[in-house]
Amino acid sequence: MTQHPDAMKWNGRYQTDGHYRQQGRASQLLQQFAHLLPKDGVVLDAAAGVGVNALFVAQLGIHVVALDISEVGLRLLMQKAKELGVGVETAVFDLTTPHFPQNCVDAILNFRFLERAAFPAYRQALRPGGLLFFETFVHTDSGDVPSYFLAPGELHHAFADFEIVHSVETAVRGHRSGNMRPVAQLIARKPGDWRLETGDCTNL
Ligand SMILES: C[S@@+](CC[C@H](N)C(=O)[O-])C[C@H]1O[C@@H](n2cnc3c(N)ncnc32)[C@H](O)[C@@H]1O
Repeated sequence: MTQHPDAMKWNGRYQTDGHYRQQGRASQLLQQFAHLLPKDGVVLDAAAGVGVNALFVAQLGIHVVALDISEVGLRLLMQKAKELGVGVETAVFDLTTPHFPQNCVDAILNFRFLERAAFPAYRQALRPGGLLFFETFVHTDSGDVPSYFLAPGELHHAFADFEIVHSVETAVRGHRSGNMRPVAQLIARKPGDWRLETGDCTNL
């Protein structure tokens, strides 16, 4: 078992309620903009958890690679993928020290997770024209831990050089609490021409 503190925390949670979490629906944002996902591309689901979003994308027939620090979450994801008869690649991966091959990924999903160290890695990994789908919580009061919450406007600002397809600060229902919680949503396209800038994607 991985001894990373985040892995221990999330492995414990998923052992308790992972099956319950898998009954949740894929993100509304993802469902609403699923038509933008590349049919022939590779989609990376960063901090995929038990895989509600990765499985939704896999069921569209799209190649998904699901990354997470929690092997328990990824194991549940794989079991569900088998039940559904879809393929998803998984890897235990620490997004606090990310490294991806350059210009290889057609879309990245980052839902309900914040690791600012991953921002430059997402920029690098996306191929020009690739899409970032991002939704996570915005900090509301002084009790919130800043490293887990976006500041208002922060997400839009961080990717302001991308082509912004959708950028909204709104509220969504929390999975466990059922309460409405403020989030920032962003769908943004990496600038550039993929025909001129392709990476060595053999190690993806
Ligand atoms: C709130 S869950 C979100 C899961 C999924 N994206 C969703 O929306 O259902 C946060 C996820 O981040 C993962 N996580 C926490 N720290 C991580 C890290 N350092 N690297 C990769 N994943 C991490 C956890 O294991 C957990 O699955």
